[in-house]
Amino acid sequence: MRMTLGSTAVGAAIVVFSVIFVVVAMPALVFHPKPSDIAEPYTPQQLHGREVYMANGCFYCHSQFIRPQDWNQPGVTDSNGRVAQAGDYAYQQTALLGQHRNGPDLSEEGGVHPDDWHYAHFFNPRFVNPKSIMPQFSYLWNTNSDGTVTPTPDLVDLVAYVQNLGGKLADERYAEQLSQKKLFADAIIAPSNPQIEQIYGVKDPGQQFGDTNQKALLSVVPQKFWDLLDPVPADDRSLIDGKTVYVTNCIGCHGVLGNANGPADQFLNPYAYNFTNADNMAHGLSTSPGSLYEHILYGIKGTAMQPFGQDLTVQNIWDVVNFLYTIPNGGLTAPGGPTMSMYIQWSPSRELEDLLKAPQATPSGGSTTAVTPSPAAFREQGPPVVVRG
Ligand code: HEC
Ligand code: HEC
Repeated sequence: MRMTLGSTAVGAAIVVFSVIFVVVAMPALVFHPKPSDIAEPYTPQQLHGREVYMANGCFYCHSQFIRPQDWNQPGVTDSNGRVAQAGDYAYQQTALLGQHRNGPDLSEEGGVHPDDWHYAHFFNPRFVNPKSIMPQFSYLWNTNSDGTVTPTPDLVDLVAYVQNLGGKLADERYAEQLSQKKLFADAIIAPSNPQIEQIYGVKDPGQQFGDTNQKALLSVVPQKFWDLLDPVPADDRSLIDGKTVYVTNCIGCHGVLGNANGPADQFLNPYAYNFTNADNMAHGLSTSPGSLYEHILYGIKGTAMQPFGQDLTVQNIWDVVNFLYTIPNGGLTAPGGPTMSMYIQWSPSRELEDLLKAPQATPSGGSTTAVTPSPAAFREQGPPVVVRG
Protein backbone atom coordinates (compact mmCIF):
# COMPACT_ATOMS: atom_id res chain seq x y z
CA MET A 1 0.00 0.00 0.00
CA ARG A 2 1.28 3.48 -0.92
CA MET A 3 2.16 5.87 1.91
CA THR A 4 -0.13 8.78 1.15
CA LEU A 5 -1.19 11.49 3.57
CA GLY A 6 -4.61 9.85 3.80
CA SER A 7 -3.41 6.31 4.53
CA THR A 8 -0.92 7.62 7.14
CA ALA A 9 -3.68 9.59 8.86
CA VAL A 10 -5.97 6.57 8.91
CA GLY A 11 -3.15 4.34 10.23
CA ALA A 12 -2.25 6.86 12.94
CA ALA A 13 -5.89 7.16 13.97
CA ILE A 14 -6.20 3.35 14.25
CA VAL A 15 -3.09 3.20 16.46
CA VAL A 16 -4.27 6.07 18.70
CA PHE A 17 -7.78 4.69 19.16
CA SER A 18 -6.56 1.14 19.81
CA VAL A 19 -4.21 2.43 22.49
CA ILE A 20 -7.03 4.43 24.09
CA PHE A 21 -9.27 1.38 23.89
CA VAL A 22 -6.72 -0.96 25.49
CA VAL A 23 -5.43 1.46 28.12
CA VAL A 24 -8.58 3.38 29.06
CA ALA A 25 -11.73 1.63 27.86
CA MET A 26 -10.77 -2.02 28.44
CA PRO A 27 -9.86 -1.65 32.13
CA ALA A 28 -13.08 0.29 32.79
CA LEU A 29 -15.16 -2.30 30.90
CA VAL A 30 -13.70 -5.56 32.18
CA PHE A 31 -12.21 -4.72 35.58
CA HIS A 32 -15.02 -5.60 37.97
CA PRO A 33 -13.39 -8.03 40.40
CA LYS A 34 -15.36 -9.78 43.14
CA PRO A 35 -14.65 -8.31 46.59
CA SER A 36 -11.79 -10.19 48.27
CA ASP A 37 -11.98 -11.48 51.85
CA ILE A 38 -10.59 -8.20 53.22
CA ALA A 39 -12.47 -5.75 50.98
CA GLU A 40 -15.13 -3.55 52.53
CA PRO A 41 -17.23 -0.64 51.25
CA TYR A 42 -15.84 2.83 51.81
CA THR A 43 -17.36 5.46 54.04
CA PRO A 44 -18.21 8.80 52.37
CA GLN A 45 -15.17 10.29 54.11
CA GLN A 46 -12.85 7.63 52.70
CA LEU A 47 -14.38 8.02 49.24
CA HIS A 48 -13.69 11.72 49.36
CA GLY A 49 -10.16 10.92 50.55
CA ARG A 50 -9.79 8.79 47.44
CA GLU A 51 -10.72 11.79 45.31
CA VAL A 52 -8.00 13.77 47.04
CA TYR A 53 -5.65 10.86 46.30
CA MET A 54 -6.53 11.08 42.60
CA ALA A 55 -6.48 14.88 42.44
CA ASN A 56 -2.98 15.01 43.89
CA GLY A 57 -1.58 12.40 41.54
CA CYS A 58 -0.64 9.99 44.31
CA PHE A 59 -1.25 7.05 41.97
CA TYR A 60 1.36 8.31 39.49
CA CYS A 61 3.93 7.00 41.96
CA HIS A 62 1.82 4.59 44.05
CA SER A 63 0.18 2.40 41.39
CA GLN A 64 -2.70 0.28 42.60
CA PHE A 65 -1.90 -2.28 39.93
CA ILE A 66 -1.33 -5.37 42.05
CA ARG A 67 1.77 -7.53 41.70
CA PRO A 68 2.71 -10.63 43.68
CA GLN A 69 6.12 -9.21 44.56
CA ASP A 70 4.50 -6.32 46.44
CA TRP A 71 3.35 -8.36 49.41
CA ASN A 72 6.14 -7.34 51.70
CA GLN A 73 5.03 -3.93 52.92
CA PRO A 74 7.41 -1.89 55.02
CA GLY A 75 6.62 -2.68 58.61
CA VAL A 76 3.59 -4.85 58.00
CA THR A 77 4.80 -7.74 60.05
CA ASP A 78 1.30 -9.04 60.68
CA SER A 79 0.00 -9.32 57.11
CA ASN A 80 1.81 -12.67 56.98
CA GLY A 81 2.86 -12.22 53.41
CA ARG A 82 -0.67 -11.89 52.07
CA VAL A 83 -0.42 -11.04 48.39
CA ALA A 84 -2.61 -8.16 47.22
CA GLN A 85 -5.55 -9.23 45.06
CA ALA A 86 -7.57 -7.30 42.51
CA GLY A 87 -10.63 -7.85 44.72
CA ASP A 88 -9.03 -5.76 47.46
CA TYR A 89 -9.97 -2.73 45.37
CA ALA A 90 -13.43 -4.05 44.41
CA TYR A 91 -15.29 -1.09 45.89
CA GLN A 92 -13.40 1.47 43.82
CA GLN A 93 -15.10 2.88 40.74
CA THR A 94 -12.08 2.92 38.42
CA ALA A 95 -8.80 1.18 39.11
CA LEU A 96 -5.97 3.64 39.69
CA LEU A 97 -3.21 2.22 37.57
CA GLY A 98 -0.27 4.59 37.55
CA GLN A 99 2.60 4.07 35.18
CA HIS A 100 5.43 4.42 37.70
CA ARG A 101 6.40 2.76 40.91
CA ASN A 102 8.50 5.52 42.37
CA GLY A 103 6.81 4.95 45.68
CA PRO A 104 6.09 1.69 47.52
CA ASP A 105 2.92 -0.33 46.98
CA LEU A 106 0.33 0.94 49.47
CA SER A 107 -2.19 -1.92 49.26
CA GLU A 108 -1.57 -2.78 52.94
CA GLU A 109 -0.70 0.70 54.19
CA GLY A 110 -3.67 1.15 56.52
CA GLY A 111 -2.75 0.91 60.20
CA VAL A 112 0.98 0.49 59.57
CA HIS A 113 1.53 3.94 61.07
CA PRO A 114 -0.63 5.99 63.43
CA ASP A 115 -2.26 9.14 62.07
CA ASP A 116 0.37 11.50 63.52
CA TRP A 117 3.08 9.83 61.41
CA HIS A 118 1.00 10.47 58.26
CA TYR A 119 0.38 14.12 59.14
CA ALA A 120 4.10 14.72 59.59
CA HIS A 121 4.86 12.71 56.42
CA PHE A 122 2.35 14.57 54.24
CA PHE A 123 3.57 17.93 55.52
CA ASN A 124 7.07 16.97 54.47
CA PRO A 125 8.17 13.35 53.87
CA ARG A 126 11.76 14.32 54.79
CA PHE A 127 10.55 15.00 58.35
CA VAL A 128 10.10 11.28 58.98
CA ASN A 129 12.39 9.87 56.30
CA PRO A 130 15.35 12.13 55.42
CA LYS A 131 16.04 10.14 52.23
CA SER A 132 12.49 10.30 50.84
CA ILE A 133 11.91 11.56 47.29
CA MET A 134 8.14 11.91 47.78
CA PRO A 135 6.98 15.50 47.18
CA GLN A 136 5.70 17.48 50.14
CA PHE A 137 1.98 18.16 50.37
CA SER A 138 2.18 21.07 52.80
CA TYR A 139 -0.42 22.92 50.69
CA LEU A 140 -2.96 20.51 52.16
CA TRP A 141 -2.50 22.46 55.40
CA ASN A 142 -3.93 25.86 56.39
CA THR A 143 -1.53 28.30 57.99
CA ASN A 144 -3.08 30.18 60.90
CA SER A 145 -2.32 33.80 61.74
CA ASP A 146 0.00 32.76 64.56
CA GLY A 147 2.08 30.63 62.20
CA THR A 148 0.71 27.27 63.35
CA VAL A 149 -0.81 24.90 60.82
CA THR A 150 -4.08 22.97 60.71
CA PRO A 151 -4.86 20.14 58.29
CA THR A 152 -7.49 20.94 55.64
CA PRO A 153 -10.60 18.72 55.60
CA ASP A 154 -9.19 17.24 52.38
CA LEU A 155 -6.09 16.05 54.20
CA VAL A 156 -8.09 14.58 57.07
CA ASP A 157 -10.12 12.60 54.53
CA LEU A 158 -6.98 11.54 52.64
CA VAL A 159 -5.52 10.12 55.85
CA ALA A 160 -8.80 8.27 56.47
CA TYR A 161 -8.55 6.73 52.97
CA VAL A 162 -4.89 5.75 53.38
CA GLN A 163 -5.64 4.21 56.79
CA ASN A 164 -8.27 2.02 55.11
CA LEU A 165 -5.93 0.56 52.46
CA GLY A 166 -5.91 -3.12 53.30
CA GLY A 167 -9.61 -3.22 54.21
CA LYS A 168 -10.52 -5.32 57.21
CA LEU A 169 -6.88 -6.13 58.00
CA ALA A 170 -6.15 -2.40 58.00
CA ASP A 171 -9.02 -1.85 60.45
CA GLU A 172 -7.46 -4.35 62.85
CA ARG A 173 -4.02 -2.77 62.60
CA TYR A 174 -5.50 0.71 63.00
CA ALA A 175 -7.46 -0.31 66.08
CA GLU A 176 -4.27 -1.69 67.59
CA GLN A 177 -2.49 1.60 66.89
CA LEU A 178 -5.26 3.47 68.71
CA SER A 179 -5.30 1.20 71.73
CA GLN A 180 -1.50 1.26 72.01
CA LYS A 181 -1.53 5.04 71.63
CA LYS A 182 -3.69 5.19 74.73
CA LEU A 183 -0.99 3.34 76.66
CA PHE A 184 1.51 6.08 75.80
CA ALA A 185 -0.96 8.93 76.22
CA ASP A 186 -1.64 7.73 79.76
CA ALA A 187 2.09 7.71 80.46
CA ILE A 188 2.65 11.32 79.45
CA ILE A 189 3.23 13.52 82.45
CA ALA A 190 5.09 16.70 81.55
CA PRO A 191 3.85 20.10 80.27
CA SER A 192 1.84 20.26 77.08
CA ASN A 193 2.59 21.69 73.67
CA PRO A 194 0.05 24.25 72.41
CA GLN A 195 0.79 23.30 68.77
CA ILE A 196 -0.63 19.84 69.27
CA GLU A 197 -3.85 21.51 70.34
CA GLN A 198 -3.80 23.72 67.25
CA ILE A 199 -3.21 20.83 64.89
CA TYR A 200 -5.45 18.18 66.35
CA GLY A 201 -8.05 20.27 68.13
CA VAL A 202 -7.54 18.34 71.36
CA LYS A 203 -5.52 19.31 74.39
CA ASP A 204 -2.02 17.89 74.26
CA PRO A 205 -1.55 15.83 77.40
CA GLY A 206 2.08 16.82 77.42
CA GLN A 207 5.62 15.81 76.60
CA GLN A 208 6.68 12.39 77.70
CA PHE A 209 9.56 12.16 80.10
CA GLY A 210 10.06 10.14 83.21
CA ASP A 211 9.41 6.78 84.65
CA THR A 212 5.84 6.20 83.52
CA ASN A 213 6.83 6.55 79.89
CA GLN A 214 9.85 4.27 80.44
CA LYS A 215 7.54 1.65 81.87
CA ALA A 216 5.15 1.98 78.96
CA LEU A 217 8.07 1.61 76.53
CA LEU A 218 9.41 -1.42 78.33
CA SER A 219 6.01 -3.06 78.60
CA VAL A 220 5.73 -3.46 74.82
CA VAL A 221 9.12 -5.22 74.58
CA PRO A 222 8.89 -9.04 74.69
CA GLN A 223 10.72 -10.27 77.77
CA LYS A 224 13.39 -12.14 75.80
CA PHE A 225 14.73 -8.78 74.61
CA TRP A 226 14.94 -7.16 78.06
CA ASP A 227 18.36 -8.50 78.97
CA LEU A 228 19.60 -9.33 75.48
CA LEU A 229 23.30 -8.50 75.30
CA ASP A 230 24.80 -6.45 72.52
CA PRO A 231 26.71 -8.81 70.19
CA VAL A 232 28.44 -5.93 68.39
CA PRO A 233 31.17 -4.54 70.63
CA ALA A 234 31.10 -0.78 70.96
CA ASP A 235 34.27 0.64 69.42
CA ASP A 236 35.07 3.86 67.59
CA ARG A 237 34.21 2.33 64.20
CA SER A 238 30.81 1.08 65.38
CA LEU A 239 30.00 4.46 66.96
CA ILE A 240 30.86 6.37 63.79
CA ASP A 241 28.79 3.97 61.65
CA GLY A 242 25.96 4.28 64.17
CA LYS A 243 26.04 8.04 63.91
CA THR A 244 25.66 7.74 60.11
CA VAL A 245 22.63 5.50 60.58
CA TYR A 246 21.17 8.04 63.02
CA VAL A 247 21.75 11.07 60.83
CA THR A 248 20.30 9.41 57.71
CA ASN A 249 17.23 7.93 59.39
CA CYS A 250 16.38 9.36 62.77
CA ILE A 251 17.01 13.13 62.97
CA GLY A 252 13.59 14.15 61.62
CA CYS A 253 11.97 12.96 64.86
CA HIS A 254 14.72 12.44 67.46
CA GLY A 255 16.38 15.67 66.36
CA VAL A 256 19.88 16.87 65.48
CA LEU A 257 20.61 17.20 69.19
CA GLY A 258 18.98 13.91 70.11
CA ASN A 259 16.49 15.64 72.37
CA ALA A 260 13.31 15.05 70.32
CA ASN A 261 13.34 18.49 68.73
CA GLY A 262 13.15 17.25 65.13
CA PRO A 263 10.85 19.03 62.66
CA ALA A 264 8.37 16.13 62.80
CA ASP A 265 7.82 16.44 66.55
CA GLN A 266 5.35 19.31 66.30
CA PHE A 267 3.01 16.80 64.61
CA LEU A 268 3.65 13.86 66.92
CA ASN A 269 1.94 12.74 70.07
CA PRO A 270 3.84 11.28 71.86
CA TYR A 271 6.95 13.06 70.65
CA ALA A 272 10.05 11.08 69.84
CA TYR A 273 12.26 9.80 72.66
CA ASN A 274 14.84 12.12 74.19
CA PHE A 275 18.27 10.45 74.31
CA THR A 276 20.15 13.27 76.07
CA ASN A 277 19.52 12.25 79.68
CA ALA A 278 22.69 10.50 80.92
CA ASP A 279 20.94 8.86 83.85
CA ASN A 280 18.23 7.41 81.58
CA MET A 281 20.80 6.07 79.14
CA ALA A 282 22.85 4.50 81.97
CA HIS A 283 20.08 2.83 83.98
CA GLY A 284 16.76 3.50 82.22
CA LEU A 285 14.14 0.77 82.37
CA SER A 286 13.65 0.86 78.60
CA THR A 287 17.21 1.68 77.52
CA SER A 288 18.95 -1.68 77.80
CA PRO A 289 20.69 -2.62 74.52
CA GLY A 290 18.05 -5.32 73.92
CA SER A 291 15.12 -2.94 74.45
CA LEU A 292 16.60 -0.31 72.17
CA TYR A 293 17.29 -2.98 69.55
CA GLU A 294 13.73 -4.29 69.71
CA HIS A 295 12.19 -0.82 69.44
CA ILE A 296 14.26 0.01 66.36
CA LEU A 297 13.67 -3.38 64.71
CA TYR A 298 9.90 -3.54 65.19
CA GLY A 299 8.99 0.09 65.89
CA ILE A 300 6.54 1.01 68.65
CA LYS A 301 2.87 0.63 67.75
CA GLY A 302 0.76 3.58 68.82
CA THR A 303 3.66 5.98 68.32
CA ALA A 304 5.29 7.36 65.19
CA MET A 305 8.35 5.17 65.88
CA GLN A 306 8.39 3.10 62.71
CA PRO A 307 9.91 -0.35 62.23
CA PHE A 308 13.34 -0.25 60.62
CA GLY A 309 13.67 -3.99 60.09
CA GLN A 310 13.36 -3.57 56.33
CA ASP A 311 15.65 -0.56 55.98
CA LEU A 312 18.53 -1.44 58.31
CA THR A 313 20.74 -4.50 58.74
CA VAL A 314 21.30 -6.20 62.09
CA GLN A 315 24.76 -4.59 62.16
CA ASN A 316 23.26 -1.13 61.39
CA ILE A 317 20.83 -1.46 64.29
CA TRP A 318 23.45 -2.53 66.84
CA ASP A 319 25.77 0.26 65.62
CA VAL A 320 23.07 2.88 66.14
CA VAL A 321 22.21 1.36 69.55
CA ASN A 322 25.87 1.72 70.54
CA PHE A 323 25.88 5.26 69.25
CA LEU A 324 22.74 6.30 71.18
CA TYR A 325 24.68 5.74 74.45
CA THR A 326 27.11 8.53 73.44
CA ILE A 327 24.43 11.21 72.88
CA PRO A 328 24.34 12.53 76.49
CA ASN A 329 28.12 13.13 76.25
CA GLY A 330 28.07 14.94 72.92
CA GLY A 331 28.25 12.00 70.50
CA LEU A 332 26.05 13.90 68.05
CA THR A 333 27.37 17.40 68.56
CA ALA A 334 31.06 17.20 69.53
CA PRO A 335 33.31 18.01 66.54
CA GLY A 336 35.51 14.98 67.29
CA GLY A 337 32.56 12.73 66.43
CA PRO A 338 31.49 9.98 68.78
CA THR A 339 34.39 8.33 70.60
CA MET A 340 34.56 5.56 73.17
CA SER A 341 35.24 8.16 75.89
CA MET A 342 31.63 9.34 75.41
CA TYR A 343 30.11 5.86 75.56
CA ILE A 344 27.84 5.08 78.54
CA GLN A 345 27.76 1.46 79.68
CA TRP A 346 24.12 0.63 80.51
CA SER A 347 23.41 -1.45 83.62
CA PRO A 348 20.03 -2.47 85.03
CA SER A 349 18.50 -0.57 87.92
CA ARG A 350 17.36 -2.42 91.04
CA GLU A 351 13.78 -2.04 89.84
CA LEU A 352 14.48 -3.73 86.52
CA GLU A 353 16.47 -6.52 88.16
CA ASP A 354 13.45 -7.36 90.30
CA LEU A 355 11.28 -7.38 87.20
CA LEU A 356 13.71 -9.60 85.30
CA LYS A 357 13.71 -12.12 88.16
CA ALA A 358 9.94 -12.43 88.20
CA PRO A 359 8.93 -14.97 85.55
CA GLN A 360 6.46 -13.68 82.95
CA ALA A 361 6.41 -10.37 84.76
CA THR A 362 5.19 -7.25 83.08
CA PRO A 363 6.99 -4.09 84.14
CA SER A 364 3.87 -2.19 85.03
CA GLY A 365 2.16 -4.92 86.96
CA GLY A 366 0.45 -6.50 84.01
CA SER A 367 -2.20 -3.94 83.39
CA THR A 368 -0.70 -2.23 80.37
CA THR A 369 0.48 -5.13 78.25
CA ALA A 370 -2.80 -6.94 77.82
CA VAL A 371 -4.36 -4.50 75.39
CA THR A 372 -6.90 -6.34 73.30
CA PRO A 373 -8.01 -4.11 70.47
CA SER A 374 -11.61 -4.26 69.47
CA PRO A 375 -11.89 -2.83 65.96
CA ALA A 376 -15.62 -2.21 66.21
CA ALA A 377 -15.33 -0.17 69.38
CA PHE A 378 -12.61 1.99 67.91
CA ARG A 379 -14.31 2.55 64.58
CA GLU A 380 -17.35 3.99 66.27
CA GLN A 381 -15.23 6.54 68.08
CA GLY A 382 -13.22 7.43 65.00
CA PRO A 383 -9.70 8.81 65.18
CA PRO A 384 -9.16 10.14 68.68
CA VAL A 385 -6.67 12.86 67.95
CA VAL A 386 -7.93 14.35 64.74
CA VAL A 387 -10.97 16.55 64.33
CA ARG A 388 -11.79 18.12 61.02
CA GLY A 389 -9.69 21.30 60.79
C1 HEC B 1 6.93 11.46 43.06
C2 HEC B 1 6.41 10.22 43.54
C3 HEC B 1 5.42 10.23 44.69
C4 HEC B 1 4.19 10.88 44.75
C5 HEC B 1 3.56 11.81 43.74
C6 HEC B 1 3.61 10.48 46.01
N1 HEC B 1 4.44 9.63 46.68
FE1 HEC B 1 4.05 8.69 48.43
N2 HEC B 1 5.93 7.91 48.44
C7 HEC B 1 6.86 8.05 47.44
C8 HEC B 1 8.10 7.45 47.88
C9 HEC B 1 9.39 7.41 47.11
C10 HEC B 1 7.88 6.93 49.17
C11 HEC B 1 8.89 6.19 50.09
C12 HEC B 1 9.64 7.16 50.95
C13 HEC B 1 8.78 7.80 52.02
O1 HEC B 1 8.32 7.09 52.94
O2 HEC B 1 8.53 9.01 51.97
C14 HEC B 1 6.49 7.23 49.49
C15 HEC B 1 5.86 6.87 50.67
C16 HEC B 1 4.52 7.04 50.92
C17 HEC B 1 3.84 6.54 52.09
C18 HEC B 1 4.50 5.82 53.25
C19 HEC B 1 4.73 4.37 53.04
C20 HEC B 1 5.34 3.79 54.29
O3 HEC B 1 4.59 3.29 55.14
O4 HEC B 1 6.55 3.89 54.46
C21 HEC B 1 2.52 6.92 51.99
C22 HEC B 1 1.41 6.63 52.97
C23 HEC B 1 2.40 7.66 50.76
N3 HEC B 1 3.63 7.71 50.14
C24 HEC B 1 1.21 8.21 50.33
C25 HEC B 1 1.15 9.11 49.27
C26 HEC B 1 0.00 9.91 48.95
C27 HEC B 1 -1.35 9.82 49.67
C28 HEC B 1 0.33 10.71 47.91
C29 HEC B 1 -0.50 11.79 47.26
C30 HEC B 1 -0.95 12.86 48.15
C31 HEC B 1 1.70 10.37 47.53
N4 HEC B 1 2.17 9.42 48.39
C32 HEC B 1 2.38 10.92 46.46
C33 HEC B 1 6.66 8.67 46.24
C34 HEC B 1 5.57 9.46 45.91
C1 HEC C 1 8.71 9.32 62.54
C2 HEC C 1 9.38 9.66 63.78
C3 HEC C 1 10.51 8.78 64.26
C4 HEC C 1 11.59 8.33 63.55
C5 HEC C 1 11.97 8.61 62.10
C6 HEC C 1 12.39 7.58 64.48
N1 HEC C 1 11.78 7.57 65.71
FE1 HEC C 1 12.41 6.55 67.35
N2 HEC C 1 10.75 7.13 68.37
C7 HEC C 1 9.76 7.93 67.87
C8 HEC C 1 8.71 8.04 68.86
C9 HEC C 1 7.44 8.86 68.70
C10 HEC C 1 9.10 7.24 69.96
C11 HEC C 1 8.29 6.95 71.24
C12 HEC C 1 8.67 7.94 72.30
C13 HEC C 1 8.12 7.63 73.65
O1 HEC C 1 7.05 7.07 73.82
O2 HEC C 1 8.83 8.02 74.56
C14 HEC C 1 10.39 6.69 69.62
C15 HEC C 1 11.11 5.85 70.44
C16 HEC C 1 12.35 5.31 70.12
C17 HEC C 1 13.09 4.40 70.98
C18 HEC C 1 12.64 3.86 72.32
C19 HEC C 1 13.45 4.44 73.44
C20 HEC C 1 13.44 3.54 74.66
O3 HEC C 1 13.93 3.96 75.71
O4 HEC C 1 13.00 2.42 74.58
C21 HEC C 1 14.26 4.12 70.32
C22 HEC C 1 15.38 3.23 70.78
C23 HEC C 1 14.25 4.86 69.08
N3 HEC C 1 13.06 5.56 68.98
C24 HEC C 1 15.29 4.85 68.17
C25 HEC C 1 15.19 5.38 66.89
C26 HEC C 1 16.23 5.25 65.89
C27 HEC C 1 17.58 4.61 66.11
C28 HEC C 1 15.74 5.83 64.76
C29 HEC C 1 16.41 5.89 63.40
C30 HEC C 1 16.93 4.65 62.87
C31 HEC C 1 14.41 6.34 65.05
N4 HEC C 1 14.11 6.05 66.35
C32 HEC C 1 13.59 6.99 64.16
C33 HEC C 1 9.73 8.53 66.64
C34 HEC C 1 10.63 8.29 65.60
